[in-house]
Amino acid sequence: MTEDILRIRGGKPLCGEITVQGAKNSALPLMAAALLCDGETVLHRVPQLSDVYAASRILNRLGCRCRAEGNTVTIRYSGSGSYEIPDADMRAMRSSIMFLGPILGRMRRCTLSMPGGCELGPRPIDLHLAAMRQMGVKIREEEGRIVCTAEKLRGTGIRLKLPSVGVTENVIMAAVCAEGETVLINAAREPEIVDLARFLNQCGAKITGAGESTVVISGGSPLTGTEYAVMPDRIAAVTYLCAGAAAGGSVSLHGAVPAHIESCTQVLEAAGCSITEQGGVLTLKRTDRLKAVPYIETMPYPEFPTDAQALISAVLCTAKGRSIIEETIFDSRFRHVGALLEMGADIRVSGKKAEINGVPGLHGAAVAATDLRGGAAMAVAAFAAEGETDLRALHHLDRGYEHFAETFHSLGGDVRRCRFSAKERENQSLGA
Ligand code: EPZ
Repeated sequence: MTEDILRIRGGKPLCGEITVQGAKNSALPLMAAALLCDGETVLHRVPQLSDVYAASRILNRLGCRCRAEGNTVTIRYSGSGSYEIPDADMRAMRSSIMFLGPILGRMRRCTLSMPGGCELGPRPIDLHLAAMRQMGVKIREEEGRIVCTAEKLRGTGIRLKLPSVGVTENVIMAAVCAEGETVLINAAREPEIVDLARFLNQCGAKITGAGESTVVISGGSPLTGTEYAVMPDRIAAVTYLCAGAAAGGSVSLHGAVPAHIESCTQVLEAAGCSITEQGGVLTLKRTDRLKAVPYIETMPYPEFPTDAQALISAVLCTAKGRSIIEETIFDSRFRHVGALLEMGADIRVSGKKAEINGVPGLHGAAVAATDLRGGAAMAVAAFAAEGETDLRALHHLDRGYEHFAETFHSLGGDVRRCRFSAKERENQSLGA
């Protein structure tokens, strides 16, 4: 058995320019939506990630021919295939639930189980199932699997209890195949929803209001595959800005959409970074010691995103003063804090609140990623820390970051991805 680790030697500024990858959280629903289209869908700027490979596997099983060449993915539905997603594919990622709406839209029946993904506390799918029921889907449990059938999907009024991203996407994808109009109230407003609606409209769908709280979908239009470029990844963009903020230096991003990350750049500016945009290039500079940000609360878009919470907490570890972060979206999204403590941070977590008392500096440590953004936060802290950090459990990072080590390398970061056998790792921890 071998294991990859990232070895980061921190404590020096990051300087350079990078291009932001395509958004994982948009590419995955777009791939699922391609199941609804006749003819060929060509998606550009699809990041090369393990979650994308898992989505390709699911599509192939559902009867699509899904091929990837670099960052371009071509998908064509063959007209027949399974309506079931095996347990192993469901467990591979949370986004496997994104296939519920498209499979029902295409085949009127779907069998699946609970999805996997990052452990951020309970992540139920009750709202997905409730919305499908409202559209006429019958749902029962059979031998631990969720069996969904519908004679037809019908458009209806759906009011979400909370603005869930995944439920909004599933409803949109089912509703484009439904009879009549669906009015979705209290919809999520994330840019990935806008990207999905834009893609589907380009295929022939009739969706208005995406990006606002009420989305109206007029179902029944035939959908034909199209060529489309996935939006840039706003959380990857924030990750590299946070690394520049934590380590100091100057980080320039090509292809980021400043409006998508405004709630994050505002916090970084409040902490003392300078952020400018010129000619489509967003640049963060940090020279002096950062200052604490008294209070940050994670909220649905356009407010501060839960996905950036761990990243900003890594930045604030060395900011002068006390910062409070309150996580309101997920129950258990402070699992990265243990690693930051190992690196010398002073953080107290109580329920959904973390109190960060800034320390003058961090030091390297041997740590393991706990989840995707938590792992990225550890890397951000490692670039700021003096000495060497070994970051393990990289499968979490591989789910969401394309060429993570190479990207930091091009910012001048001292980082290597190394492969060790179990024996070598054991010797290392014994100091041999
Ligand atoms: C999406 O997850 C993202 N994933 C997550 O990205 C992100 O953290 C999250 O939205 C919030 O922005 C993808 O887009 C693939 P939700 P999703 O449904 O759709 C509760 C990352 O790091 N809820 O908006 O699963 C849920 O428990 C990640 O890239 C129910 O109660 O999130 C949570 O508290 C991880 N019942 C809240 O809603 C349901 O049926 C928001 O979750 C569904 C959700």
